[in-house]
Amino acid sequence: MPDSPLQRHDASVPALPIRIDGEIRPAFPHRVRFTRDLLDPANPILSETLAEAIPPERGFRPRVLAAIDGGLAASQPGFASRLTAALAAAAPHAEIAPPLEIPGGEAAKSDPAALDGIVAALERARICRRSLLVAAGGGAALDVAGYAAAIFHRGVRLLRIPTTVLAQDDAAMGVKNGVNRHGKKNLLGAFAVPEAVLCDLSLLRSLPDGVWRAGFSEAVKIAVIRDRDLFERIERDAAAIRGRDESSATAVIVRSAELHLRHILDGGDPFERGTARPLDFGHWAAHRLESMTGHRLSHGEAVSIGIALDSTIAADLGLIDAAVRDRIVDLLRTLGLPTSHEALLDTEALLAGLEEFREHLGGAASVAMPTGIGASVEVPPPGPEEVARAVETMSPCH
Ligand SMILES: NC(=O)c1ccc[n+]([C@@H]2O[C@H](COP(=O)([O-])OP(=O)(O)OC[C@H]3O[C@@H](n4cnc5c(N)ncnc54)[C@H](O)[C@@H]3O)[C@@H](O)[C@H]2O)c1
Ligand SMILES: [Zn+2]
Repeated sequence: MPDSPLQRHDASVPALPIRIDGEIRPAFPHRVRFTRDLLDPANPILSETLAEAIPPERGFRPRVLAAIDGGLAASQPGFASRLTAALAAAAPHAEIAPPLEIPGGEAAKSDPAALDGIVAALERARICRRSLLVAAGGGAALDVAGYAAAIFHRGVRLLRIPTTVLAQDDAAMGVKNGVNRHGKKNLLGAFAVPEAVLCDLSLLRSLPDGVWRAGFSEAVKIAVIRDRDLFERIERDAAAIRGRDESSATAVIVRSAELHLRHILDGGDPFERGTARPLDFGHWAAHRLESMTGHRLSHGEAVSIGIALDSTIAADLGLIDAAVRDRIVDLLRTLGLPTSHEALLDTEALLAGLEEFREHLGGAASVAMPTGIGASVEVPPPGPEEVARAVETMSPCH
């Protein structure tokens, strides 16, 4: 046999190359609950969840740290102490650390100090892999806290308590966490399955109107591409939802959450390693618009504009009738969501979003476009002329 740099002549060493293949198959439970008054001592959900997330073990006292969105804490001043008391009552076998307040909103994802602050608190509270971080807040606070949990000691347990419409109907359902860096959304992040996601619908009452409304753009997104019945329900109840009618809103939030969750559980590719696409209709432009406006447009608002833009492009490509496009855009407007923005006029900067999108997802870019209400197709990304034509049709005064 010819001499090769991979082969040695020592007979006790097996010949190279050596191939050792296997499969790592962790099965993660994924628990999502919808409830009201989660912190009420009569509500069993929190204690049930903690018994599963940090089960009592002989000779070991798990620790629990709560990280609370500052916007939530400001709107509901008693929340931090009520949560601490509820955690202590629900998990008497655990040691509850003093809660940490984290910045609310996109700043939490963009400012490295917010991530550092959570890591420092995890360290102070001596959170280990069998202990728990409880993150309560909007999608942004959950994303940064989830990322801290995913990287601290290579991953500690996380319990999410989403407190915005968008976090309950979309963001908290999945397995993604992340922060913005170098002007790019979610440039750093990790896939990690939380121990549980506890959605308390009564916590949504303190949301400012704009934050409330913005959350429904993700429900419209998934309805357009997946569920005609949901779309028609939102159409029927749009004015009531905008007027904050809880029962109309709850039905939509729960159905949207379920569809997002099903995509993770049944889509066969929760960590997006293969060909499964995230549910990101309207998102290539949305992420870009958020960055272009220095996050003056919130994620939900930008998604609404992205949906309007892509629906207009889809109509231009003949994938849907103009009447279907109008129906989608009208629904967004009835919900009180924006459907255009002057930043769209900078087509070149906008189109850089497509490249960013491709880099983020890897592989060849394609975008989801509706082919009707409740159905979609993956198509090559639109070119500059198509985007410019759509922007002209939309006109920024809309
Ligand atoms: N991880 C994912 O899969 C995923 C999916 C979709 C969106 N996201 C991310 O979610 C973020 C958007 O989340 P969002 O729409 O929840 O906005 P947000 O987290 O920015 O919250 C909006 C505002 O509401 C405040 N707030 C939160 N709960 C409150 C309450 N109950 N009462 C009063 N104020 C409250 C916050 O402090 C903030 O000021 C974006 O960063 C987006 O990228 C992540
Ligand atoms: Zn989104």
